[in-house]
Amino acid sequence: MERKEVYHLALTQERIEGARYAFLPGDPGRVSHIASAFDPAAREVAAKREYRSWLGQMAGTPVLVASTGIGGPSTSIAVEELASIGVRLFLRVGTTGAIQPQIEVGDVIVTTGSVRLDGASNHYAPLEYPAVSDYGIVNALVASARTHSVRCHVGITASSATFYPGQERTDSYAGHVVADLRGSLEEWKRLGVLNYEMESSTLFVVCSALGLRAGCVCGVIGDRTQGEAVNSSGVQPAVQKTIQVAVDAMEMLITQDRALVNDD
Ligand code: URA
Repeated sequence: MERKEVYHLALTQERIEGARYAFLPGDPGRVSHIASAFDPAAREVAAKREYRSWLGQMAGTPVLVASTGIGGPSTSIAVEELASIGVRLFLRVGTTGAIQPQIEVGDVIVTTGSVRLDGASNHYAPLEYPAVSDYGIVNALVASARTHSVRCHVGITASSATFYPGQERTDSYAGHVVADLRGSLEEWKRLGVLNYEMESSTLFVVCSALGLRAGCVCGVIGDRTQGEAVNSSGVQPAVQKTIQVAVDAMEMLITQDRALVNDD
């Protein structure tokens, strides 16, 4: 008999063939692209709400690609449910707006740690607890970016609960940023923060708190030193590069893990 189906992602351990590794894009529309990039025979295994999941094989092991939707709350649900059916390593493959002048649209950013502006992570650990990536995943992502000659920046990400006020955008229906957040972009920039996105701090805190491994690589689709808008023509090339970097990094991680087990 098939074991219990997790409520939101509509998956079981059997349906994901015991996969222990997962790519986590935010966008359900990117799931098939990532899965097909490492396994042309990959197939959809579930689709419910913002959660679409495809399964493929990489380096002789099943690997899941599951969308998280946007933001911390839906990301926490994805991680909880995937962990409960056996996934142990989570690699976010996202998009981002850069806030440092040396970063260009089309570059990739590997996050070492995140500023916890999300809200959801507070339900897992107090704010004093750091939102940090798994060290081995950072190394694999950087090595993969080098192999692909992709311009890569490594450092701190501001992970915001909102796309508009939390990232100090006024070109919105509200047209207004509350006093507490005014000047925040400049402040993060001065503090050396590289970029804004919306899921990494939740992912890192939930995973650290639960003894799981997590990493994050994002393609730059907006240059916030120039303006608020996303560069529409830059999205596709940035996403493509990010997928390449993420896929090869995952293969390295699987191979390294296997070598560790065989050494025992
Ligand atoms: N994702 C974000 O959260 N912000 C951006 O500017 C681009 C992508």
